[in-house]
Amino acid sequence: MSNDPIDRLMALADAARDGAYAPYSKFQVGAAAEFEGGHIVTGANVENGAFPSGICAERNAIAAGMAKLGPTARLKRIAVSARDATGVDRDAPPCGACRQVIAEHGYGAHVMFRWEGRAIERPMSELLPFSFVL
Ligand code: THU
Repeated sequence: MSNDPIDRLMALADAARDGAYAPYSKFQVGAAAEFEGGHIVTGANVENGAFPSGICAERNAIAAGMAKLGPTARLKRIAVSARDATGVDRDAPPCGACRQVIAEHGYGAHVMFRWEGRAIERPMSELLPFSFVL
């Protein structure tokens, strides 16, 4: 495993795909959320036969991290990784609902994902400009 903290977070997201429950889409997604202070919590997508009841990897990781660390926790970085039914890595920028949740817990966070086969990193503010806040 690389010593680069960015690469390490992506490697954790890659590994988290093993926890996916994706019998319907066969699209396994893993996420590794790093919070301020260095805590890292991973998650995977967990689907449901009543399709809208399933949840994405990013939201699972963030919810688990928030529940563990408490309401003052702030997200610093999140890496997302996906592979298809054949085991091939797939591009996986976070979906719209996940962007909204990432923005809530870390508008200043950086998001890593594969795009055109290559891991890239973008500030959350670039992925969701004019973000809704209450
Ligand atoms: N999925 C995620 O886990 N994260 C995203 O940002 C988009 C999609 C999951 C949901 C579903 O289980 C599968 O990928 C196919 O849509």
